Amino acid sequence: MLKSIYRLTRPALFALSPEEAHELTVRALECGVYPRSTAADDRALSQSVFGLEFKNPIGIAAGYDKDARVPDAVLGMGCGFAEIGTVTPHPQSGNPKPRIFRLVEDNALINRLGFNNGGHEAALARLEARKDRGGIVGVNIGANKDSVDRGEDYVLGLLRFNSVASYFTVNISSPNTPGLRDLQAPAALEALLARVMAARTRLINDGAQKRPIVVKISPDIAADDIAPIVEKLMAYDVDAIAVSNTTLSRDGLKSSDSREAGGVSGRPLFQRSTAMLARIFKQTEGRIPLIGIGGIDSGPRALEKIEAGATLLQLYTGLIYEGPSLIGEIKSHLTKTLHEGRQTNLAAIRGRHADVWAKQPL
Ligand SMILES: Cc1cc2nc3c(=O)[nH]c(=O)nc-3n(C[C@H](O)[C@H](O)[C@H](O)COP(=O)(O)O)c2cc1C
Repeated sequence: MLKSIYRLTRPALFALSPEEAHELTVRALECGVYPRSTAADDRALSQSVFGLEFKNPIGIAAGYDKDARVPDAVLGMGCGFAEIGTVTPHPQSGNPKPRIFRLVEDNALINRLGFNNGGHEAALARLEARKDRGGIVGVNIGANKDSVDRGEDYVLGLLRFNSVASYFTVNISSPNTPGLRDLQAPAALEALLARVMAARTRLINDGAQKRPIVVKISPDIAADDIAPIVEKLMAYDVDAIAVSNTTLSRDGLKSSDSREAGGVSGRPLFQRSTAMLARIFKQTEGRIPLIGIGGIDSGPRALEKIEAGATLLQLYTGLIYEGPSLIGEIKSHLTKTLHEGRQTNLAAIRGRHADVWAKQPL
């Protein structure tokens, strides 16, 4: 039913520019116009991850709700968690429009938004206003384009949002802020992690609650560089790794807009991000939770991410093409799979295809 409604609505939304369509959708969510998920999630989908109780493993990825306008609507649509951001200390307008392109033939998007957002203060005010409503709401933090000390921008994010963030995602993998991904290079990563973790320790020593820290990485890291980066993340005890952000690769794209600059998301990203996820799952021996992101647009693809090693999932582009019924479809598919296999939880199937996926080319 919900799926057929979206099938009817999609042409009207796709007649607008991607950014206009997105704004319209977010406004609808702000006004409470969205399909509410009323059924309780199956117990088999629940899990305790980095100290938080997730009712189900599905979240909407960063970039959908950059300014914390609709975290409760995202939760209300049936997600187990929401992630707002990326937020930067100061508001910034991002790159000139147009800066999002639909690659319909490829079930993909290209975006070069460049961290357009209203800054810390505006997002913080919204999150403070909804604080008592509960639910898991992560805050994805980044750096301003013109910042002279990018590390400090992440530290500021941590300090400012600690009282309202269920967890943090340190985003060092957006391709649209020049030089940001250089923070993944071992020396720069080490310096950043040292500062971020020290800031968290100071907060805890001052009596604040300890918030989990997730690091979100790029799918374009060269194969040989993955292991040293993951080693550093483990050495600094990050709570989870999010794999992955958008890619600069244009392999296999058919759409004419594929020549536009920016990061590709959606189906073409699935293969690479899942192979990378599996390699990291094997390297970490499943000891660090992984958030599987990239090209999830169906129940079977969500299942594959978990079988490759994901503990939690996030999606964005799939939602644009499939609509909000995708959230329920994924949950049903996962539940059915667990019941058919007589498994009582997602941990029973996590990583069971990691060996096969880790051998796939990046
Ligand atoms: C329009 C758009 C904006 C995005 N903005 C952000 C962002 O601000 N921060 C971030 O960490 N990721 C951002 N992303 C990346 C997504 O969070 C996600 O990692 C990526 O799209 C892959 O997932 P998908 O294939 O399900 O879309 C953005 C993606 C899109 C399509």
